[in-house]
Amino acid sequence: MTDTILIAIAWPYANAEIHVGNLTGSHLPGDIFARYHRLKGNRVLMVSGSDSHGTPITVRADAENTTAFEVYQRYHEGFLDLFQQLGISYDLFTSTHTESHFDIAQKIFLALHQNGFLYQEKQEQWYSSEQSRFLPDRYVEGTCYICGYDNARSDQCDKCGNLLEAGKLIDPKSKIDGSTPELRETTHFFLDLGKLEPDIINFLNEKESFWRPNVLKQSIGQIQTDGLRGRPITRDLDWGIPIPLDGQSGKCLYVWFEAVIGYLSAAIEYAKIINEPEVWRDWWMEKTTKSYYFIGKDNIPFHAIIWPAELIGISTTFDEMLNSKKPRSLVLPFDVPANEFMNLEGKKISGSRNWAVYGRDFLTRYDPDPLRYYLTVTMPETRDTDWDWGDFMHRNNDELVATWGNLANRVLSFAYKYWEGNVPDPGLLTELDLQLLATVNDGFESVGKEIEAVHLRAALQEAMRIASEVNKYLDTTSPWITIKSDKATAARAIFVAMKAIDSLKILFAPFLPFSSEKLHQFMGYENSIFGTQSTLTQDDNLGEHTILRYHPESGKGNWVPSQLKTGDKFLKPMPLFKKLDPTIVDDERQRLGR
Ligand code: MF3
Ligand code: ZN
Repeated sequence: MTDTILIAIAWPYANAEIHVGNLTGSHLPGDIFARYHRLKGNRVLMVSGSDSHGTPITVRADAENTTAFEVYQRYHEGFLDLFQQLGISYDLFTSTHTESHFDIAQKIFLALHQNGFLYQEKQEQWYSSEQSRFLPDRYVEGTCYICGYDNARSDQCDKCGNLLEAGKLIDPKSKIDGSTPELRETTHFFLDLGKLEPDIINFLNEKESFWRPNVLKQSIGQIQTDGLRGRPITRDLDWGIPIPLDGQSGKCLYVWFEAVIGYLSAAIEYAKIINEPEVWRDWWMEKTTKSYYFIGKDNIPFHAIIWPAELIGISTTFDEMLNSKKPRSLVLPFDVPANEFMNLEGKKISGSRNWAVYGRDFLTRYDPDPLRYYLTVTMPETRDTDWDWGDFMHRNNDELVATWGNLANRVLSFAYKYWEGNVPDPGLLTELDLQLLATVNDGFESVGKEIEAVHLRAALQEAMRIASEVNKYLDTTSPWITIKSDKATAARAIFVAMKAIDSLKILFAPFLPFSSEKLHQFMGYENSIFGTQSTLTQDDNLGEHTILRYHPESGKGNWVPSQLKTGDKFLKPMPLFKKLDPTIVDDERQRLGR
């Protein structure tokens, strides 16, 4: 049976380059998951885009004396480049600054309004009298009134993960000039989370058995300690999506309220682009569709509480607004496998202190698969992890190169030399041969199971374990020695090893797509494992902006053991990975923090 799977990846703020922490937190796990499900033959839609509004963008623009639009465009282009280079295979990577997203976000707002889940209320917000303007969200920093962290932003604390009520921040300081802002009254729309609380509790209770404990703890914890209260979802800001009601000029939708709607608007945009305007419904309305949200832990409340609340609140009203004959509601998140954080050399990653490894910079010196490998084995699935350059070098050399790359290269080079590029005839297989092939074949089940449970570290470990079994098999059978006295025996071992490698190439493919494709070519296949690569397109329909689209036309159903046969032709191989010189460790450490 084919499953329909929505892969929703946190929309990166278009105000900074993407670093290894962002990659291992959301983009890479989402991509591995997507590639696996495509290979399984499932219907995947993997979407995200640049989160282009709100104070994260305007604060940066102010600091650089440029416009928010310019900041957004600059980083957006960089994201597209990075995802192409690293093989992050978005079906659509778009942005929140599109006509389509504006339209859908405004409809969601109106649907909630119509259904009675919004109310207007006066509120105290930080205000700068010198500049005669409000200072929402990131414009004000101070001490968290919940955990005491002294670098909290007025809307969210990065330390305890709580969403904050702006006016309660202790010792507030303006980000623009360090001055102390005052509180001033302003009227905003609030999302009535209190009214939706019973539904949210039901929603979360159903997840008890399979969500990651940290995700459950954070979301249920928040409800237990505080209860759910209304949250303001509009701001006094002019960069963003206007409130679609009269008399609201100068105000916008809160960036978080509308960014999460991107998962829906991107699916609708995707459907338009491929000229099947209704096809988005398959991912958003079929009750059997499973949606997975790949995010970092700082995003948990928005994906486990606020976004489900918006979806529950709109009910069928959003679809009614699209003039559907039989209006339907939208599917709630199935899983939110949020990751913890990745630190760098023992310290928190920080752009402002240049304590970061940026994806694009990394790729000017190294290949994409070693990065994907290291970020998977250190993925912060259950606890914070650490990027360590020494560890990176060792794992590249001692695991990726030694266990997998050398195995493939050694066997293929040897086979190419002695059998002139034709898969040898093994004769009758022995018990040992059959056992190894069975171990490899079982990998399609065991690796697949781990990926489906979003245990990606364990999945990659399992594939590596199987590669080690093939190495052991070759130690036992030693075709390099038997070739001298008994070519037929050597042929048998090489045939079995080639079959194993041909299968391992698929088991590794979701994690290491570039080297698996290369190996696929060396093994003589004329097609590719995943189909064509990503393309950049200028999308004129939806306002000028560049989008990234991956076209997984082929590759369906490729999650199967090797079909290689005696006599099949293959090519002269080349090494899949490079061994790294230990001097890179110091070189790289030198770059940090300056
Ligand atoms: N831009 C946010 C961040 O980088 C994530 C937004 S996820 C979305 O933390 F769903 F809201 F888009
Ligand atoms: Zn806090």
